[in-house]
Amino acid sequence: MKRLNLLIAKLALLPVLCLGVSLQAAASAPARLGATPQMGFNNWNSTHCRDEFNEQMIRGIADKIVSLGLRDAGYRYVNVDDCWANWQRDKDGKLQANPKRFPSGMKALADYIHSRGLKFGVYSSAGTSTCEPLQENRGFPGGLGHEKEDAASFAAWGVDYLKYDNCNNQKIPALQRYTAMADALRATGRPIFFSVCEWGENKPWLWAGKPPVDAQSWRTTGDISDSYASMLKVFKQDVVLDRYARPGHWNDPDMLEVGNGGMTDVEYRSHFSLWSIMAAPLLIGTDLRTIKPEALKILLNKEVIAVDQDPLGVQGHQVRDAGGIHVIVKPLKDGSRAVVVFNETDGAQDVDVAPAEIGLKPGRYEMRDLWLHSGRSGDGSIAVKLQPHASAMYRIRAG
Ligand code: GLA
Repeated sequence: MKRLNLLIAKLALLPVLCLGVSLQAAASAPARLGATPQMGFNNWNSTHCRDEFNEQMIRGIADKIVSLGLRDAGYRYVNVDDCWANWQRDKDGKLQANPKRFPSGMKALADYIHSRGLKFGVYSSAGTSTCEPLQENRGFPGGLGHEKEDAASFAAWGVDYLKYDNCNNQKIPALQRYTAMADALRATGRPIFFSVCEWGENKPWLWAGKPPVDAQSWRTTGDISDSYASMLKVFKQDVVLDRYARPGHWNDPDMLEVGNGGMTDVEYRSHFSLWSIMAAPLLIGTDLRTIKPEALKILLNKEVIAVDQDPLGVQGHQVRDAGGIHVIVKPLKDGSRAVVVFNETDGAQDVDVAPAEIGLKPGRYEMRDLWLHSGRSGDGSIAVKLQPHASAMYRIRAG
């Protein structure tokens, strides 16, 4: 009888014990990589391979991310792009930093960036050399055939992110090349965000987000450049791929150009609104040491960032694409929805959006304008005059 009582008491405790164990597991489980789209900085759009791209610059950028309040707004990754590596591997076949640009080495750079509460990313290519044109018959070494030792170097340096490009790929199938690096990264045991960059050539939205690659993001387009025409082209290619994006796996229409000077502030606001409603990576591509206040204001719009980073993790869906007017709707975790209305055309347009078009039932709604930072209540309909290339962005909640 005593034994039976003891058994009953033990059984009664079981759920409590299980709960304790699972709570403990939850507390110690690492945050899922890419649970929301990656945010941070990459030097490519501002410097390409010019000499100014060096360790002093990158350290200065890390400092600025902190002092300008960008880290606190969510920008975490500091990523170096092509041309960080030395022309040759070392005598053991390992990648090494270019001694002119990064004399202190990659580990020291990673340590510095980590000491600022940020994360560190590097670049390589799933080919025999990277994309920067060969000089004196030498290119920067790529990862093809060196996946294991390169991933081990990245992990040893403290790398948190790899952008893996597609140049000089010897026509080996993309799935094979990206799987080799994905496996090598996983084998290091270090969580390293894997950003596939094959420019949408092999429809990566169909395979890159699933095992065996299981990447956190994949480029959907060719390179963006700092012009309205380029931004528009990239947007149109990415916006129709919404069904493939989900937490941990994002469409990547390339990095931001905000602040680089080739677009007006109106166009940069559209760029930032569109990337955010598409749950795209927000990787700053301008030199933060010289950024103008208006561009910084765009990058620091926390209400817009919150749409991009919403934990429901749904890419906005385009419900209208007609006459140069685009309407995109993104459901959010708290039951509200974000809406962007974008005027692609060169003329001012009066745009009306009925509640039903953006999925709203008849009722009362709080309409928050995310650029004017003001709210009003209404029936969910939108009537707005948009200047050429301008966008309006709202967060609409019932009540
Ligand atoms: C490719 C990529 C760019 C950039 C360059 C570097 O073009 O798509 O984003 O990384 O290579 O050479």
